[in-house]
Amino acid sequence: MKSQKGLYNISYSFLSIGEQLAKEEGKHISHAEATKALETETKKMDQEFKEHSVAEFFKKNKQMLGFYGKVRTLTMVIHEYVTNSLDACEETGILPNIDVKIDELGKEYYEVMVKDNGPGIGQDNIGKAFGKLLAGTKFHRLIQSRGQQGIGCSGCTMLSQMTTGKASKIITGRKGKKAVSLEITIDPKSNEPKMTNIKEIDKAFEGTAVQSKFKDVLYRDSEQGPLEYLRRTAIANPHAQISFRDPQGQKITFKRTINKIPELPREVKPHPKGVTVDEIITLVKVTKARTVQSFISNDFDRTGAKSISELKKRVTFDLNKDPKKITWEESEEIIKAFKDIDFIAPTTDALRPIGEDQISKSLHSIVKPEFLTVLTRRPSVYAGGFPFQVEIAIAYGGDAGRKITGEGRKMEIMRFANRVPLPFDAGNCALTHAVQSIEWKRYNIRDAENSPVTVFINFISVHIPYTGAGKQSVADEDEVLEEVRLALMSTGRRAGIFISHKRKEAENQMKRKMFYKYIPEIAKALKEITKVSEDDMKKRLEKLVLEKLKLDEAKDAEEMKRMQDKMDKDSKSSVGDGNGKKAKTKKKKGKK
Ligand SMILES: Nc1ncnc2c1ncn2[C@@H]1O[C@H](COP(=O)(O)OP(=O)(O)OP(=O)(O)O)[C@@H](O)[C@H]1O
Ligand SMILES: [Mg+2]
Repeated sequence: MKSQKGLYNISYSFLSIGEQLAKEEGKHISHAEATKALETETKKMDQEFKEHSVAEFFKKNKQMLGFYGKVRTLTMVIHEYVTNSLDACEETGILPNIDVKIDELGKEYYEVMVKDNGPGIGQDNIGKAFGKLLAGTKFHRLIQSRGQQGIGCSGCTMLSQMTTGKASKIITGRKGKKAVSLEITIDPKSNEPKMTNIKEIDKAFEGTAVQSKFKDVLYRDSEQGPLEYLRRTAIANPHAQISFRDPQGQKITFKRTINKIPELPREVKPHPKGVTVDEIITLVKVTKARTVQSFISNDFDRTGAKSISELKKRVTFDLNKDPKKITWEESEEIIKAFKDIDFIAPTTDALRPIGEDQISKSLHSIVKPEFLTVLTRRPSVYAGGFPFQVEIAIAYGGDAGRKITGEGRKMEIMRFANRVPLPFDAGNCALTHAVQSIEWKRYNIRDAENSPVTVFINFISVHIPYTGAGKQSVADEDEVLEEVRLALMSTGRRAGIFISHKRKEAENQMKRKMFYKYIPEIAKALKEITKVSEDDMKKRLEKLVLEKLKLDEAKDAEEMKRMQDKMDKDSKSSVGDGNGKKAKTKKKKGKK
């Protein structure tokens, strides 16, 4: 009754507004006419109610996929294709050979070609891979991979057709099967692929090649351009060979520095601390378990007998119940219980860091620094349920740092997530925030901004907490910030020792130069007093200076050694054994 009255009041107030407006316009409108007008309006609204597909949504909101800014968009396209090639090769144990070409077709009009030697795509899936948004092989799994959403290369197909009206060309072939070539677009209304010119080709081809055209984009050889993106990709993927031909026809090949394919990442089960009520409801639909108890113990990580008995005590329903019949309220009970139960920290051995040796090799080969220090921290956990790990390197001198016009170099932060460079949205990223929070002066880097330093950070996880669909910045999770900071402090200390040593060496050189400059004059003056010959006096003074400097150097070396030993001790306690046994679960304030 009450609600009906309320409804009447609302429509009555609408009518009054209608009457009022009509009055203001000088029209006279009766109550019946106002009722009719309202009815027509609401009918129109009902007719206008439409659905739109995810493709239409992203077509209107392409910036959400990171496609904004002319230079950025072109780099993002390269990023999407190259990350797919690397993922596909790694998953099938192939050492990646990736060719990238960019041709300028007109003003702000380019053609991109990316070819890999990967496993190819099965004919049934080519359409879904390149012509359907939110479709792929990586979404419903907790595994460390570069892609995770299913909107990367399909997003590129859509951008190409949106800006040029043209289809993307795909050639893909599998071992022992004929390769296929086709042209593809997406029907935005249905988010379904449209494939034309499908042909089998006789030439043997294993891998995938994609060629697509883009307008309103721009090629630049800048920090955010494709070349720098590929250079960084090569650093974080020393097992990959990447060749690039820019629009001017210049070629560069980043050769692989190791021949070992990274160990295949393992899929992990969700950890109870990281799931939500809704996820439980989704998971029960696909479980093979016959009871809620076996569903919890088989489909989740770290749910042994002890935690099951704890769970039994905390829920009001029988755990032998069919999991498919679980209600929302029962699922809520489970999640509430999960919060109170102490579980072992999530399994972390599914993470695959690049490794200190590999990072060191590739940075030495590409950045050629004077000094380099690398640290792989032990795995940790964020938001209670997602394992992650950070790898940090600090390179100093040589080609380290960002080149600027004129003299000198600036500090450069190379951010990576699961080995993928993140050249954009730096200001919004936890990895940048961690670097900014460090007091670099404490590590002898006096003017960090203007120092020849490259800070390399690789953040790896089975689920990267990106801040947006463009996948360019990592969210400020407390545990992530803390781990990156700790790693920066350890490597910063090492870099600080080197820099202080370098500075002392330079000071000694200066001193030597200065002393030597005045020795002849002092020798001349002393000759008058001591009657020792000028030559003899010069030799004696030089010997004195050398002895003094040697003494200083010995003192410096001793100090260096002391600091080095302390640092080795520190780093031994911070580097993990890779099996995650030492991983700690920290509860995030106010979360789950
Ligand atoms: N070069 C390739 N070789 C083999 N398979 C590929 C290749 N490129 C794309 N695929 C397949 O197409 C799917 C869709 O790719 P897409 O880039 O759209 O999404 P994704 O990589 O799964 O996730 P993300 O949106 O985060 O990039 C991939 O999951 C993969 O299965
Ligand atoms: Mg992808």
